[in-house]
Amino acid sequence: MKVLVTGGAGYIGSHAVKRLLAAGHKVVVLDNLFRGHREAVPQGVPLEEIDLRNTDAVTNTLTHHAIDCVMHFAALAYVGESVQQPLNYYDNNTGGTVGLLTAMRRAGVRRIVFSSTCATYGEPEKMPITEETPQRPINPYGWSKLFVERILLDEAAADAKFSFAALRYFNVAGSAEDGSIGEDHAPETHLIPVLLNAALGKVPKVTIFGQDYPTPDGTCVRDYIHVQDLADAHAIVMDALAPGDRRFYNLGIGRGHSVREVIDAAKKVTGVDFKVETGPRRPGDPPMLYANADKVHRELGWKAKLTDIHHVTETAWRWFKNHPNGYQSP
Ligand code: UFG
Repeated sequence: MKVLVTGGAGYIGSHAVKRLLAAGHKVVVLDNLFRGHREAVPQGVPLEEIDLRNTDAVTNTLTHHAIDCVMHFAALAYVGESVQQPLNYYDNNTGGTVGLLTAMRRAGVRRIVFSSTCATYGEPEKMPITEETPQRPINPYGWSKLFVERILLDEAAADAKFSFAALRYFNVAGSAEDGSIGEDHAPETHLIPVLLNAALGKVPKVTIFGQDYPTPDGTCVRDYIHVQDLADAHAIVMDALAPGDRRFYNLGIGRGHSVREVIDAAKKVTGVDFKVETGPRRPGDPPMLYANADKVHRELGWKAKLTDIHHVTETAWRWFKNHPNGYQSP
């Protein structure tokens, strides 16, 4: 299949590109390079440096490359930033997707796999989170993605041959096991990269955001899914999409690790006893989030394989150690 990967120069998108190429698909990357990296796109893969809101240019790309399916990763993805700049999130994430869908309609492309998020669930009362858990986002980032889920349903209702899958990711972590690509965010706020930056001495200490949560060790619990498993899921879901399909799946490992457990794993993997202090809670952090990902297993046979937090951290460490300045490393 010929697949357009939006955001293919970003962290998750670049791992999806690698997986699609390995499966023999033809790939075109579309990325405005706002936070993506040209260096993350493999040689020989066309990179169209276009913003999704430029509908004419996106339409031309879809037509020119005779695209069969879109994998749509391009988005802003910082919860805190979304609270400060809500309009930017609605414009990029929701508006950008409307631009993309308009272009798809014009170009006659009717299949899309969309990056949604567990942030669409907000702070559910019951764990684990299933696809039926009510979606009540608590920040603009979550809303910007939930609006897209709604828009996809409406587009599918208007066009019987349009098909989509919305994949609700939990905490994506790790890097390609072969060390070829990895995570390079500026600013970096996610737990595992922050820990590895501390191990590298790039930040002086790590702050645990709250240790008075109603969890076994008092720190927040999250479901860390390896980026390679996530990429596998995308390829499997894409292959399964038939005209008229509307699919929603949680992607997680189905259990949680506390912040303390992840810190212990990072210290063990890196061999560095970096400084850790405890600070106040970070506003908007739910105590516990983990997935029930049985639906995608039942329907398509996908299940996370790289579920050992030490191994997940180890793959991320391999990348960080060899690329202390991300893609700008020599
Ligand atoms: N944490 C710390 N110290 C840090 C960084 C993080 O204690 O320096 C804690 C956080 O409080 C949280 C956990 O580590 O409990 C994980 O935090 P991340 O920032 O790595 O990830 P989040 O759980 O906040 O965010 C993830 C995804 C988002 C998604 C969100 C939904 O990255 O895209 O879950 O809640 F929207």
